[in-house]
Amino acid sequence: MAERRGKGRGAGSRPAAGVPRSRVPRPIVLTPKEVSRQLVRPVVIAVANRKGGVGKTTTSVNMAACLALMGHPTLLVDMDSQGHSTSGLGLEPSDINGTALDLLTGERPIEDAIVPTTVSGLDLVPATIDLSKAEVNLVSHPERELRLSAALDPVRGEYDFIFIDTPPSLGMLTVNSLVAADDVLIPLQCEYFALEGVKDLVGIVKVVSDNLNPDLRIEGILLTMYEPTPLSREIQNEVRSHFGDSVFGPVVPRDRRIAEAQSMGVPAVQYRMGSPGTQAYIKAAMELSRRHLSRDE
Ligand SMILES: Nc1ncnc2c1ncn2[C@@H]1O[C@H](COP(=O)(O)OP(=O)(O)OP(=O)(O)O)[C@@H](O)[C@H]1O
Ligand SMILES: [Mg+2]
Repeated sequence: MAERRGKGRGAGSRPAAGVPRSRVPRPIVLTPKEVSRQLVRPVVIAVANRKGGVGKTTTSVNMAACLALMGHPTLLVDMDSQGHSTSGLGLEPSDINGTALDLLTGERPIEDAIVPTTVSGLDLVPATIDLSKAEVNLVSHPERELRLSAALDPVRGEYDFIFIDTPPSLGMLTVNSLVAADDVLIPLQCEYFALEGVKDLVGIVKVVSDNLNPDLRIEGILLTMYEPTPLSREIQNEVRSHFGDSVFGPVVPRDRRIAEAQSMGVPAVQYRMGSPGTQAYIKAAMELSRRHLSRDE
């Protein structure tokens, strides 16, 4: 597990304001074998795909929540001015002290912007519509692509996983996210033109790794909102033959419980633990955790 630094905040140790305790779920129960494999190297993962509505936010919220409930201190940074990760975790404006915009402008240190969530072990840096000003606000800043990375530095060692939910574009917010990240996780919906968005993203990952962040790599592709149609099967086969083992084994099915949970402001594990979509996210989170086992063990 990551070495803790700083104030020892105890990530997510208190429920967020206004959320009934009955919504606080019990931790995900792992088998002894899985528990013994829970030590990981800390990692920052940008969840990205230029295409809109493919499950970036749903994947960020649910993977982060599952990993937190498996015992990994986890932070989710909402880098989308739509603020869907923020609302998807039930945060109200009154719960928010600082936002992702403050990190980029340097207005506040990250410690002031981090808030606990209802999920034990999961903290959030929220976003509001103000984040849409970032592109303009940063125009005259030197090294504007590096600002999120620098802002995260003080807390990188406090969490096993830091997820960054990015917007559906390849602008300054996504570039900042890719520069701050170690890995990129690409949610992919099995539909026409799905691979186009991925090709664009792979291109920009290469530009960022060549110029700004040589350690950046593609963590993997997670198939989302899967429906067992002939087209989806064909696209799944194409993606798996093209990207091989970097495609996650578990596939997230289209499941209305996932969308319902998001609209209720809770991760799916706090809403319907047994639903097929929730189970797929739990399995994907386990695979992610296994992929990041510490080499020291
Ligand atoms: N597995 C699923 N089953 C059913 N609905 C889903 C599933 N995953 C996501 N959704 C719904 O699909 C919509 C888009 O998902 P989401 O917001 O995660 O995509 P996104 O890539 O973050 O979108 P954007 O590009 O706008 O940020 C949401 O309404 C969400 O609740
Ligand atoms: Mg989103």
